[in-house]
Amino acid sequence: MSDLESLRTRLLAEIAAAADDKALETARVEALGKKSALMGFLRDLGGLDVEARKARGAEVNAVKAQVEEAFAARKAGLKSAALEARLAGERLDVTLPARPASAGSTHPISQVTEEVTAIFADMGFSLREGPQIESDWHNFDALNMAPEHPARQEHDTFFMSPRPDGSRHVLRTHTSPVQIRTLLEEGAPVRFIAPGRVYRSDYDMTHTPMFHQLEGMAIGKDVTMANLKWVLEEFLKAFFEIDNVELRFRASHFPFTEPSAEVDVRCDRSGGKIKLGEGNDWLEILGSGMVHPNVLRAGGVDPDQWQGFAFGMGLDRLAMLKYGIADLRGFFDADLRWLRHYGFNPLNVPTLRGGVSG
Ligand code: DAH
Repeated sequence: MSDLESLRTRLLAEIAAAADDKALETARVEALGKKSALMGFLRDLGGLDVEARKARGAEVNAVKAQVEEAFAARKAGLKSAALEARLAGERLDVTLPARPASAGSTHPISQVTEEVTAIFADMGFSLREGPQIESDWHNFDALNMAPEHPARQEHDTFFMSPRPDGSRHVLRTHTSPVQIRTLLEEGAPVRFIAPGRVYRSDYDMTHTPMFHQLEGMAIGKDVTMANLKWVLEEFLKAFFEIDNVELRFRASHFPFTEPSAEVDVRCDRSGGKIKLGEGNDWLEILGSGMVHPNVLRAGGVDPDQWQGFAFGMGLDRLAMLKYGIADLRGFFDADLRWLRHYGFNPLNVPTLRGGVSG
């Protein structure tokens, strides 16, 4: 056997025997590297005369090509073997039943968000969202709260560091900026709710720096305060699952509505528990009103053509009232015992037909 032929046999055997990428790379350097025997053969060609060089060169190059091909084939083989091994190792039987002990539960805020979404969807309100880091134009100015407006101070705003252009974004202090974003994007008529997280620098029994609001808006040619009243009554009846909801509209002031009303619901507080729909007390649950012409204008909607109502309420508060949760802070403690106690079965999706409560 010629030297070249025995080299070829040896190299191909080595490549075939390489058990992993590392061994294969070592074999490659040995076979084709500068100091390899094969390269030595190529270098030796220089000492031959023209005819012999041609013939010998062809032989050596054929071996080189074969070795390179064997190397590529082995590399591909190793790769698919690794993939096979990984697939076998990570094999998962998706038909196995879930283990009940490890099942999670739906957080009451998520549950209530789904409940209100289902109820408002039934009245033709679709769902919108906006960013939690908001420009102060969307959060304040466009909502008829100019920089010097006193209501701006009441919001205990968290400010972001200034941007390179000097503008300062805020953590949105309410969901009302979604009104502006939706009007600008979609114009009128429009009817939507926007649930989401809002932030204010405040912390005690009844306030957390992050909490949840639900915004609602309906704009049309002839949407009135009477429509607002009906929508809210229907909502509260469906949400609290009681027929005798009684509401009281109390004149109030918000910069973004005119007229503005705070809405209270009749309740009974005797016995340390709040019962809705009976008794002689009132519980404030939301702010609302007819959308201010300046807000419509900021949203690119002509107030001479369109009008409508908006409302905003605290989702955490709704959840506390409905499910008898006493301390707001429990919502955000991530305490497993609390979550197990107040959590909901994630497979029970709230629907009007099947029941909104978990
Ligand atoms: N944005 C108000 C707040 O956070 C709540 C509110 C009041 C929203 C009246 C409204 C409204 O849309 O009409 O206190």
